[in-house]
Amino acid sequence: MKIGNIEFEKGIFLAPMASVTDVGFRSVCADFGAELCYTEMVSAKGLYYGSEKTKELLAFEDNHKLKAVQLFGDDADIMANVVESFGTQFDIIDINMGCPAPKIFKNNEGCALMGNIELARKIISACVEKSKVPITVKFRSGIDDKSINAIEFAKMCEEAGASAITLHARTREQFYSGKADLSLLKKVVQSVNIPVIGSGDVVDIASYNAMLETGVSAVMVGRGSLGNPAIFSILSGKNPPYSKFDAVKKHIEILRKYYSDDYLTKYLRKHFLWYVSGIENIKPVKVKLSMCDDLNDALQTLKQVLK
Ligand SMILES: Cc1cc2nc3c(=O)[nH]c(=O)nc-3n(C[C@H](O)[C@H](O)[C@H](O)COP(=O)(O)O)c2cc1C
Repeated sequence: MKIGNIEFEKGIFLAPMASVTDVGFRSVCADFGAELCYTEMVSAKGLYYGSEKTKELLAFEDNHKLKAVQLFGDDADIMANVVESFGTQFDIIDINMGCPAPKIFKNNEGCALMGNIELARKIISACVEKSKVPITVKFRSGIDDKSINAIEFAKMCEEAGASAITLHARTREQFYSGKADLSLLKKVVQSVNIPVIGSGDVVDIASYNAMLETGVSAVMVGRGSLGNPAIFSILSGKNPPYSKFDAVKKHIEILRKYYSDDYLTKYLRKHFLWYVSGIENIKPVKVKLSMCDDLNDALQTLKQVLK
């Protein structure tokens, strides 16, 4: 499959996840076989007004052959300005039109744009016009079950010049509950001539195959990758490059280049809990990790339980 002129071998991608897909995690997932690892959604306004905290989210390590950034916003001029300023710094720029979070939605950003199709079109066209790289769009089934408009929205994205789209086939109202609607995904695939990337509930080979049956050109893995970068080796049929413990070690080592230990001890707790999830009798270790205030101690604890 191709997005613009960029060719993908398998089309297995890491989904953008706010406060999760940090530069370290993305780098580890790339080692395990994720061909494209998006940044989490990044505020176009934050970048436009020079927020340092926002800029930090754009970091990539050298092992990323391809760099994909995801932007969100509701102002076409600001978004196009940011896209223009990127030049060829990134290989793909994705626009978030699916985020259900109240603070985003009430600002007319994220999934709210599915209820304002003309503004969504304006944003995509403006970004396509100023971009030197492919623009893609990620969205949901619709805002709620009475306003499912993914097919119409997909066609609009294509007309506006998007090089590919990603559908997470749940409504905004559903957030992450229920199941992604693969039959809608199939209809969207049949409605457009640009590649469609499927997102939702891929956690193993069976769910990956079920997603492929919809005819999607590529598949994104989100929650199935939490603490489990090996999912990318499993799905791509490649040998894992290193152990889970080495994955955690690398994840930490990379983040230490960008952030203080003080910040990381708290930030990484959730990742540590995901990394040990599923191990038998792990509760006492989880309690220890969730209170740990020293990264080196956390690593020692993880070494005892991870292989
Ligand atoms: C914690 C979390 C954060 C997310 N943040 C983003 C985001 O920043 N941008 C986005 O487009 N989707 C975001 N998503 C949605 C995922 O990219 C994905 O579409 C969704 O989780 C369904 O896929 P999954 O079942 O594989 O997790 C987020 C999901 C989760 C669980």
